[in-house]
Amino acid sequence: MNLTSLRLFQFRNFANQEIELRPGLCFFVGRNGQGKTNLLEAVYLLSRGESFRPSQHEHFLNRDRSAALDRARVTAGLQTETLQEFKLKHSLSLDFSEGRRSMTLDGKRTGFSTMASLFPVVLFSPESLAAIKEGPDERRQLIDNVLITRSERDAQMLKEFQKTLRSRNALLKTIAEGDRRPSTLGTLESLTKLFLLLATQVTDARIQTLRALEPGFRESAAQIFNENRHHFSFAYEISGQDAITWNANQIFDAISQRHRELERREMDYGASLIGPQKHDLRINIDQNDSRYYGSQGQQRALILAFKIAQINLHQTTLGRYPVLLLDDVMSELDSDKRGRLMEYLEQTRAQVLITATDLTWSRHFSLERNAVFTVDNGIVTLATSSAIRAVGSANMLEDAST
Ligand SMILES: Nc1ncnc2c1ncn2[C@@H]1O[C@H](COP(=O)(O)OP(=O)(O)OP(=O)(O)O)[C@@H](O)[C@H]1O
Ligand SMILES: [Mg+2]
Repeated sequence: MNLTSLRLFQFRNFANQEIELRPGLCFFVGRNGQGKTNLLEAVYLLSRGESFRPSQHEHFLNRDRSAALDRARVTAGLQTETLQEFKLKHSLSLDFSEGRRSMTLDGKRTGFSTMASLFPVVLFSPESLAAIKEGPDERRQLIDNVLITRSERDAQMLKEFQKTLRSRNALLKTIAEGDRRPSTLGTLESLTKLFLLLATQVTDARIQTLRALEPGFRESAAQIFNENRHHFSFAYEISGQDAITWNANQIFDAISQRHRELERREMDYGASLIGPQKHDLRINIDQNDSRYYGSQGQQRALILAFKIAQINLHQTTLGRYPVLLLDDVMSELDSDKRGRLMEYLEQTRAQVLITATDLTWSRHFSLERNAVFTVDNGIVTLATSSAIRAVGSANMLEDAST
């Protein structure tokens, strides 16, 4: 699966930029603040409907022009293969206007759960590489990203769960504030029934996904670490217990049991204290929690291994690769790991959009075979291979734009 073209209209610092993309590796090179992350963000938004960085509607609208428009648009051409290798072409479009985002697929309005599975992306960014160290939210996001991109049904289930969680929390809040009328408590009871069911489904999907990922994760971790000394594994924590081997019944029993224990406290506290929004993912190195045990670099490498396992799982189960978005990750890795990541990228058949401030790390990398674009103040230009060859990596930027 690959994007064939991308157009950014009044999006962030782009006025009206059309980019013809290539299958394989596409580098976007430019100094700080030129729009490289903005470009990846646009692609991510097309797939997921939301950004990977904290932002609100108005942040997406180009503020540069004096007559700034009140809207922005990102469009793309997408080529996908079915399991039977038929090639299908789609046009995707995301409109930002009047404070809303709307998505169309081949000219028809569509929802984001459909898009995430039709056009899955996997993102590596400095933020995602810090997921182990960051809060449990980031770690849960790591698994949920796999669910959302692999199956439209799971994406919808997750959305349904989040909606129910929000309603339940709102209700618990009014109860905590003193509303203990029988009708309110009755509503809570029926909402809790649905909540427990959805909580079980989400947890079960997460655990099954982790189990499916684990063999590939071990393999890619051993590759990135370049050794077989360590044993890598996942744990899925529900109230301090590892649930990685549990089935749906065990999950339901554990969550229901916990609900009985915390029912009163939830009503005093005014929010849900049980459910998948409280669970945690642990990545172990030799049975030790990498959060406390692993070095910063090892933690990054584990997340990288996780994402590579995710990409490979996608390919083996769905027969196509997601598009990879790599934002500035080369600067985050030591040269050994960088080298092995590059090896992986060179042999993968996935389309990879990768940003960097320079190409000094690409010594062993054949730039001629891949597309290199410069990004300069919202202008994206394809650098010719002769320009790249002539100039070399370090000062390519200045020369390519002349
Ligand atoms: N809504 C907007 N309108 C106009 N410009 C914007 C808007 N939002 C962000 N920018 C500009 O985009 C630039 C940041 O872009 P981006 O984050 O893509 O940089 P980058 O090329 O990834 O840089 P770095 O190498 O530092 O990561 C900033 O200069 C910022 O002023
Ligand atoms: Mg950036």
